[in-house]
Amino acid sequence: MLRCFPFNSVIHLIHAMILPLVLAAASVVLAAPLRERAANGNVVGAYLLIDPKDGPTKLAQVVAQASTMPVNRVTLSFVRPDMYYEPGSNTLVGTGFNYANSGDYGFAAVKDAVSKIQAAGVDVYLSMGGWDYNCWPYTYLRYSVAPYGGANADIIKQYGNGNIDNCVEANQWCYACEPPSNGNSGADSFAVFPEPSWSSIWTQATADVVAAQNKANSPAVVWHPQIYGGQNWTDPATGKAQIVVGRADFATKKRDPYQDLVYLAKDLGLVGIDLDYEEFWHADTFKVGSSDCNASNGCTLWQTVYKYSAIVRDFQLSIAAIYPTLKLSTAAAAVGASGETWWGGNLKGLWYNSYTIMPSLTQFMTQGANAGGLNVMTYDMSDATDECPQPGVCSLPQQVDFYMGTYKTMTSSNAGIYVGYEIGTPAYPTDYTQMLNLTTSAFATLQTNTQSNYPGGFYWEMYKAADSAANIDVNSVSQKLCAQLLPGQTRCQGNLPSTSPIPVTSTTAISPVTTTTAAPVQTTTTAVIVKTTTTAIIPKTTTTAVVVKTTTTAKKTTTTAAVKTTTAASGGYTAGAACTNYGGWACNNSLICSYGAAGTLVWVQVGTTASC
Ligand SMILES: *[C@@H]1O[C@H](CO)[C@@H](O)[C@H](O)[C@H]1NC(C)=O
Ligand SMILES: *[C@@H]1O[C@H](CO)[C@@H](O)[C@H](O)[C@H]1NC(C)=O
Ligand SMILES: *[C@@H]1O[C@H](CO)[C@@H](O)[C@H](O)[C@H]1NC(C)=O
Ligand SMILES: *[C@@H]1O[C@H](CO)[C@@H](O)[C@H](O)[C@H]1NC(C)=O
Repeated sequence: MLRCFPFNSVIHLIHAMILPLVLAAASVVLAAPLRERAANGNVVGAYLLIDPKDGPTKLAQVVAQASTMPVNRVTLSFVRPDMYYEPGSNTLVGTGFNYANSGDYGFAAVKDAVSKIQAAGVDVYLSMGGWDYNCWPYTYLRYSVAPYGGANADIIKQYGNGNIDNCVEANQWCYACEPPSNGNSGADSFAVFPEPSWSSIWTQATADVVAAQNKANSPAVVWHPQIYGGQNWTDPATGKAQIVVGRADFATKKRDPYQDLVYLAKDLGLVGIDLDYEEFWHADTFKVGSSDCNASNGCTLWQTVYKYSAIVRDFQLSIAAIYPTLKLSTAAAAVGASGETWWGGNLKGLWYNSYTIMPSLTQFMTQGANAGGLNVMTYDMSDATDECPQPGVCSLPQQVDFYMGTYKTMTSSNAGIYVGYEIGTPAYPTDYTQMLNLTTSAFATLQTNTQSNYPGGFYWEMYKAADSAANIDVNSVSQKLCAQLLPGQTRCQGNLPSTSPIPVTSTTAISPVTTTTAAPVQTTTTAVIVKTTTTAIIPKTTTTAVVVKTTTTAKKTTTTAAVKTTTAASGGYTAGAACTNYGGWACNNSLICSYGAAGTLVWVQVGTTASC
């Protein structure tokens, strides 16, 4: 707090020296505080994935080009949600940041980079979460994948011979969170967001959420402080014990990771932090409704609304107490501001419901001194008819505009609401024919029709390849957003470092299943056709997808598994009848054995055949 204003003044001087070219237009800029250097407050943001192999190289390239890059915000990704950082310790050892694996784990180098990048006029944020650090494969498979069937659930056949009980730690629970090609090793490469009940700030945050819940008369809160890395958790649905993924050292030390991220931000001199919360597993494990949400009233995810809200509140309280000028942004699901029925399998309505009970949290992130904005992840969507949010709203430009509109409607403002772009091949759906690629023409339409209505845009990820000639490349996206949102800034004619790329191998990401080689599923020509809803994460599968995506090996494996399954499960199977083998398939993948409304295992119809 005390460092902040003098720190800013120094930055201005350095900024002025480095960028004489912008001085003509800069008298206003220089008079303004650091974080309004964009003058109009607009943001062009880039997530920068720091992976173990290329992280230091990438960061050094960004430092070298910081004064001419066509962005004014870089979000370093990711630290673990079960991290710890003791103030003044000057080490990243407890953060999972993956910059270095010895010494101070990169603290001094990252701090130096942050200082140089910010001196060159680019704000630096640090993000907590990302897909892998949000995914608990056991619960994700059992409650977010299996109950809804479809192509996603085919991993149970592929890696578990059709029996979910064969999905265990040794095979990363049938590679539910990442395919084998992603190279995850050990339960430590995944994480859950903990509920640090020993922390006074967390206790205050949860009390505030309970008060808001009481006032709103929404369903009662049930906290789960016992769920964090290394703990023995008994799955109430199966009665079986599971060791939770992630680390426990923050708990041994009685640290609060959310408070510690604020301490870390202060010691690194960061302008902001970013909360990338994507715990689909939590929403589906603690949902209310039938197991597959396939009833007219769907399901509700209030417990996840409460958990997310408490995390944001913890950040808000920590920022006020520790580093009052720190900004907070959040990555928000495209469907997050929808007030419509949730059908499971994603975080639809999470931000909508949080806003309903505690609007001050979203307002903290979108308006005022601490607002880092809502990075709305308007990507990884499908144009399958039943996944379009409304009839005729199916193309990428249409869906992005629609979902951005839900956020604008929710807050009655466009303030702090940023349009998201994913470069290259989307992570979802698995069917290439239904992917909504960010093509050059789609991007042009988005700029005119949608981006023009919002004060910021961001993309995932600064080094991600376009993958096809039709897709727009990251440098063009960045330059065009810059020209649109930061008009007149000379940096908009500059280039990203990725125009001289280094080999990028990591595929960890902010969005579900990122690797471009992801063919974790897919199967046979008798693929399951799931009648999903606009929100389901389950893709439809087609024969084309098999041909395009599946390797010969995978095909052989899956075909074998599918034949086995079909053989084992043909005859005497009826939707609604009891079954014993959770995740098992019958009737050529038309029925899956899952928990019915009564909480017992029954055959649930996901395909065309109700019995065989
Ligand atoms: C977890 O708890 C179960 C049942 O309470 C017990 O059988 C098992 O040994 C425990 N596992 C570990 C690793 O503590
Ligand atoms: C999307 O891009 C991928 C390559 O990244 C391509 O294979 C696929 O055909 C494209 N999908 C559509 C619908 O254009
Ligand atoms: C499953 O599909 C195969 C091939 O289409 C067909 O020959 C077989 O009869 C089907 N089995 C059942 C139980 O429907
Ligand atoms: C629910 O399942 C039935 C058949 O079991 C199917 O016809 C319907 O489309 C499904 N509805 C949703 C919303 O998935």
